[in-house]
Amino acid sequence: MSNTVIVGAQWGDEGKGKIIDILSKDADYVVRYQGGNNAGHTVVVAGEEIILHLIPSGILHKNKICVIGNGVVIDPQALLDEIEYLRCRGIKVKNNLRISRNAHIIFPYHKILDKLREEKFRKTKIGTTGRGIGPCYTDKFARCGIRIADILNKKVFKEKLQCNMREKNEVFRRVYKHKTFSFRATYDQYLKFAKKIEPFVCDCAYLLNDALKAKKDILFEGAQGTHLDIDHGTYPFVTSSNATAGGACVGSGLGPAKIDKVIGVIKAYTTRVGEGPFPTEFSAQLLKQIRNRGKEFGATTGRPRRCGWFDAVIGRHAVIVNGIETIAVTKLDVLDMMPKIKICVGYKYKGKVFRHFPADIEILWKAKPIYEEWPGWMEDITRTKYFSKLPKNARKYLERLAQLLETRIEIISVGSERNQTIFI
Ligand code: GDP
Ligand code: IMO
Ligand code: MG
Repeated sequence: MSNTVIVGAQWGDEGKGKIIDILSKDADYVVRYQGGNNAGHTVVVAGEEIILHLIPSGILHKNKICVIGNGVVIDPQALLDEIEYLRCRGIKVKNNLRISRNAHIIFPYHKILDKLREEKFRKTKIGTTGRGIGPCYTDKFARCGIRIADILNKKVFKEKLQCNMREKNEVFRRVYKHKTFSFRATYDQYLKFAKKIEPFVCDCAYLLNDALKAKKDILFEGAQGTHLDIDHGTYPFVTSSNATAGGACVGSGLGPAKIDKVIGVIKAYTTRVGEGPFPTEFSAQLLKQIRNRGKEFGATTGRPRRCGWFDAVIGRHAVIVNGIETIAVTKLDVLDMMPKIKICVGYKYKGKVFRHFPADIEILWKAKPIYEEWPGWMEDITRTKYFSKLPKNARKYLERLAQLLETRIEIISVGSERNQTIFI
């Protein structure tokens, strides 16, 4: 199959879980490279919905090695809960799961800080998932973060945690007037976690490079989406990691020349959870219709997702910054009963037309989308198996998306089940 990165091309929740699950069949390794349990990847197998937050979606297939790379931030409690959740469903999680020694760890103070910051700066809040992701990555880049390797070494862990907690408790006390954390309770709890996690620990870069030598195929599972990427997204309304394809190398220890292909996953319309600009966002009537049809509620927090028309400006931006070669268009069926469908092909602001994604947040907030209008197909496509059998207007819509994005469509998804997938 070759070494392939799967990335979200919008603001997350594009249906990456479903696509990764399908492509995992032909992979040997499935690797998460960034983010943490802010992600919620849904896979539906024979009517049963399984939601993964930290563990790669490949875990649902037998004989796959699933790796949590060094670029991921791990909440140990969430990880252990997820292992239990999968085992309760009869899914094996044993030596098929490997966790990088270099991955950073989320502590209770990260989660509290995440929430306190959002409350304190209410006007400019990001609408985070509250999982402590931002504060954990902040520590990583401030070079005071604590990694899996550290909690496996009692002495190192003690020193690092003491140092961190002294500083954090000061911030809690003085800045937020919040109660402080006990070093001892956190230390003891995380040593217990360390014991449970130790059997899964690996040297990710060596594991994957050895796999390459053995001619194994690696699938990289991006979390979030291009426009939530810390560098390429709608900053500051983003997450704190590189969700884009380049993150796959940094977050796993594989060199860029070893990546063969990048597939972008993109919904046939657009959604986003949390705050931030969203030029093609629907008004109330359409929002209700699409949100209900597409069941657009967050897989992690349950928050209702904001919905809007397909935005080719952000789509094209994703193609460029990820080096996307082909795309998987998901949730096309959600548009089945729309008599007219719009595509945003540019933005207009102060008389100027923008065809490229503008970095200026003010333009993103205030620009008016320039739309093309396409006729809908007004029929059920959820059982369609071939591109040629799709209604003519659905094919025309897809062809226009590919043309605007200057890419090729490889996969079309017309439902959440594995068999509701069309390969071109
Ligand atoms: P991810 O975060 O990118 O993996 O996406 P989520 O799992 O958060 O959200 C995608 C949702 O859409 C899930 O509930 C999927 O089961 C569902 N889904 C995926 N593909 C399709 C599709 O083609 N049609 C429909 N109707 N639902 C889909
Ligand atoms: P998957 O992998 C959609 C959003 C949050 C918020 C912003 C920052 O399922 O596509 P964070 O908690 O990361 O600091 O929040 O990013 N966000 C997501 N939105 N899907 C996700 O993951 C997301 N992960 C984070 O809603 O706006
Ligand atoms: Mg999701």
